[in-house]
Amino acid sequence: MSDIVLLSPLVPIVEKTLSDHGLSTARAWEVGDGDAGLVRLGQTARALAGTYGGRVDATLLARFPKVEIVAVFGVGYDSVDVRAAAARGIVVTNTPDVLTEEVADTAMGLLLCTVRELPQAERYLREGKWERGPFRLTDTLRNKSVGIFGLGRIGRAVAKRCEAFGLRVAYHGRAPQQVPYAYYPSLVALAREVDILVVAAPATAETKNAVNADVLAALGPGGVLVNIARGSLVDEQALIHALASRSIHAAGLDVLANEPHVPEELLAMDNVVLLPHVGSASIATRDAMGKLVADNLVSWFAGRGAITPVPETPSG
Ligand code: 8YV
Repeated sequence: MSDIVLLSPLVPIVEKTLSDHGLSTARAWEVGDGDAGLVRLGQTARALAGTYGGRVDATLLARFPKVEIVAVFGVGYDSVDVRAAAARGIVVTNTPDVLTEEVADTAMGLLLCTVRELPQAERYLREGKWERGPFRLTDTLRNKSVGIFGLGRIGRAVAKRCEAFGLRVAYHGRAPQQVPYAYYPSLVALAREVDILVVAAPATAETKNAVNADVLAALGPGGVLVNIARGSLVDEQALIHALASRSIHAAGLDVLANEPHVPEELLAMDNVVLLPHVGSASIATRDAMGKLVADNLVSWFAGRGAITPVPETPSG
């Protein structure tokens, strides 16, 4: 029986690091037997890593009465019911910092692809249309302003890149910060002021559907939305409507409300660039995330507490 249950397949470095430190692991998805299998694993497991069916909730935690720590593979931990975990004194850890630059790079990629229509231009070439004439002229990043919703680690890394691109930066978040960017106390006010809105805030009850019809209307017909956070922050129906009616110009989305399901309407549109949640998905960054998942568990089992506990659960 095992110390640690991996709830979902993770990069190999996780199991390797744990076994190098003498910690035994079980793979929940290979156990079979559904709930009974989980209950069996729960007899010994003191730690969980990853998520099960995309979620770690009170029902799943109930199968693991001895669990002390849940190590999430990702900076966003909306997949875990942190209240249920905290109520049991369970520590939840995430993987901040190690993916910041990668996700910020992805945001810039979406920004360029969306504004300059690079994927569309590439499709045009592959479809053999270049012989018949040049691709249409596109919008530009010159003289544009970017509003960042959520100026946390990733938001600040996006802001830094935007500055280097010569873009004006403004932001909205829970509170103003000591930064050289204009703060807007509401998302609508920010959207009204900027050309491009980048969503980089965490998924919480408070941010659910925060980018709604009013925000999209405020962004306006020239406006571009980029989302590298979570699909839940954007009212997807309102976005589909805004894109279809051209009441915003375009969107670049790395995340979707019900991923990996992609709404047919979005697939059919030419003014949206869609990525399959690859923000952090380079080999090096995913390895660094896996290493941090494992390091948190190693530290915990050595009695040294967690390295990167989330603020809502005990720090261990
Ligand atoms: C990962 C992410 O794709 O860190 C996050 O919050 O969304 C991504 O880095 C995801 O956690 C991997 O399953």
